[in-house]
Amino acid sequence: VRMLPWLLVFSALSYQAWDAPTVVSRKAWGAGPLTCGAPLTPPVTYVITDQLPGLECQEQGVCSEALRGLQSSSVYTRGWCDVAYNFLVGDDGRVYEGVGWDIQGLHTPGYNNISLGIAFFGNKIGSSPSPAALSAAEGLISYAIQKGHLSPRYLQPLLLKEKICLDPQHAVTPRKVCPSIIPRSAWKARETHCPAMKLPAKYVIIIHTADASCNVSTDCQTIVRNIQSFHMDTWDFCDIGYHFLVGEDGGVYEGVGWHIQGSHTYGYNDIALGIAFMGYFVEKPPNAAALEAAQDLIQCAVVNGYLTPNYLLVGHSDVTNILSPGQALYNIIKTWPHFKQ
Ligand SMILES: *[C@@H]1O[C@H](CO)[C@@H](O)[C@H](O)[C@H]1NC(C)=O
Ligand SMILES: *[C@@H]1O[C@H](CO)[C@@H](O)[C@H](O)[C@H]1NC(C)=O
Repeated sequence: VRMLPWLLVFSALSYQAWDAPTVVSRKAWGAGPLTCGAPLTPPVTYVITDQLPGLECQEQGVCSEALRGLQSSSVYTRGWCDVAYNFLVGDDGRVYEGVGWDIQGLHTPGYNNISLGIAFFGNKIGSSPSPAALSAAEGLISYAIQKGHLSPRYLQPLLLKEKICLDPQHAVTPRKVCPSIIPRSAWKARETHCPAMKLPAKYVIIIHTADASCNVSTDCQTIVRNIQSFHMDTWDFCDIGYHFLVGEDGGVYEGVGWHIQGSHTYGYNDIALGIAFMGYFVEKPPNAAALEAAQDLIQCAVVNGYLTPNYLLVGHSDVTNILSPGQALYNIIKTWPHFKQ
């Protein structure tokens, strides 16, 4: 499933100051009484967006009528207590109050108590929301952050409709608890004193070293040691930039490890685990042993609380302007659980 391009608007973690968005209140759109009662505790950490086809409207009167219809069908057909979303954004560029800031929506089982659900409506089937609607949603999100309804570090999981990412109870049963990790002492790491990582991390970033690959542990150890020297001496990093490195010998090599921040991706080093495949994977992907080792490591991170169960997996190139992790490897990680482009 590819992310629709318009969702990119919200992927930035930064935000600017916005005026309070104009919200069409429930009263103004003629809502029936609100009977949902589960409170939402701020700040929530997720924004979940959805698009509602088949409610075309371009102005407030028509959009209000469409919403009243949606509310009726939610209550009488679905048996819900109200419309499923906290807010809805019309193609007219107005924000319509759903269940609002303080009540849990019913949009995404497992996430309703930790997210704001925002639905776009009013556009033609298959087309993206209007620029006015996108801008209104962005304003709403910025306002939510300013007012403490939403964490500034919120995540917008785009693939939540797939159950595997959706339901924390559905965690994949690990094949084995953790792969054995070749420690820093084995590859004769230089000693360093770098900033601590705040765990659990929220992202996994998949990287390739764009350098030699190795399928024998002694070779891999030499490569890891050389990368550390290069990162520290040439790039002036505090240590090797990655949390872990994976070789085609199927080995996982400790980089800075779980507890120290890496230096792999500006803006993400304190919230993301950087896992680097040793080699250059533009044309040919890593072998099965390396791919399996990385997947085991990710599962191990979740099982041990180093990575949040709702983590997002991205390619290096998704978060910074770089070719890493190489197209051949990228094509593979696109199919992994929790992938978000
Ligand atoms: C959200 O609900 C789940 C159970 O449905 C619960 O385990 C979790 O603690 C709740 N989270 C918050 C922040 O209330
Ligand atoms: C290990 O790598 C070398 C070259 O780096 C290659 O010639 C050899 O076939 C590889 N062995 C295996 C088992 O993949």
